[in-house]
Amino acid sequence: MKFFIDTANLDQIKEAQDLGVLDGVTTNPSLMAKEGISGAENIINHYKKICDIVEGDVSAEVISTDFEGMIKEGEELAALHPQIVVKIPMIKEGIKAIKYLTGKGIRTNCTLVFSVGQALLAAKAGATYVSPFIGRLDDISTDGVELIAQIVEMYNYYGFETEVLAASIRHTMHIIQCMDAGADVSTCPLNAILGLLNHPLTDIGLEKFLADYKKVNG
Ligand code: E4P
Repeated sequence: MKFFIDTANLDQIKEAQDLGVLDGVTTNPSLMAKEGISGAENIINHYKKICDIVEGDVSAEVISTDFEGMIKEGEELAALHPQIVVKIPMIKEGIKAIKYLTGKGIRTNCTLVFSVGQALLAAKAGATYVSPFIGRLDDISTDGVELIAQIVEMYNYYGFETEVLAASIRHTMHIIQCMDAGADVSTCPLNAILGLLNHPLTDIGLEKFLADYKKVNG
């Protein structure tokens, strides 16, 4: 399973990259706004900075909602850097845009996916990634991880190549559950990734190893 970090914060992206296990980054307009990044030029420069830090795919989201606007933005974003994957919302015009951009050899990430039917459309349009938002489903008492499992099963059954990118991950256990469900990628906040490191027996074991070493070595 690939790990993407779900942030536009450069320090957090660097910290995850330094771990050596990062496969990419996802951003969205809310995450860019959270970092205070505004204006076309600043946004473009920020995407370039992210691409300079990581080696993998970097999702950059369009803000247009009409076909012409999405493909124009998509082509501009894709031209910025070979690592850019164009993030397109799961709406009717978005599906047309994914189909068009795929035909032009531009990779896409279909975002705001909340049902298996939407995931089917994204795959048929040729999306590189589909992003089901599991945390937002959990927020409304619906099982987000179960949706990941359904999409993985459906894609495997029909042989779709679209990768299932579990998004809206809120905590470490979500990562484990998405791994169990067969997600190809989890895009996570830094804390959720770092949470995978933790086990009390690791801490106790290390403390004892070091104490035993000190006993005989001073
Ligand atoms: C990533 O691609 C999504 O935009 C992101 O995971 C959404 O997460 P949220 O539901 O925590 O805002």
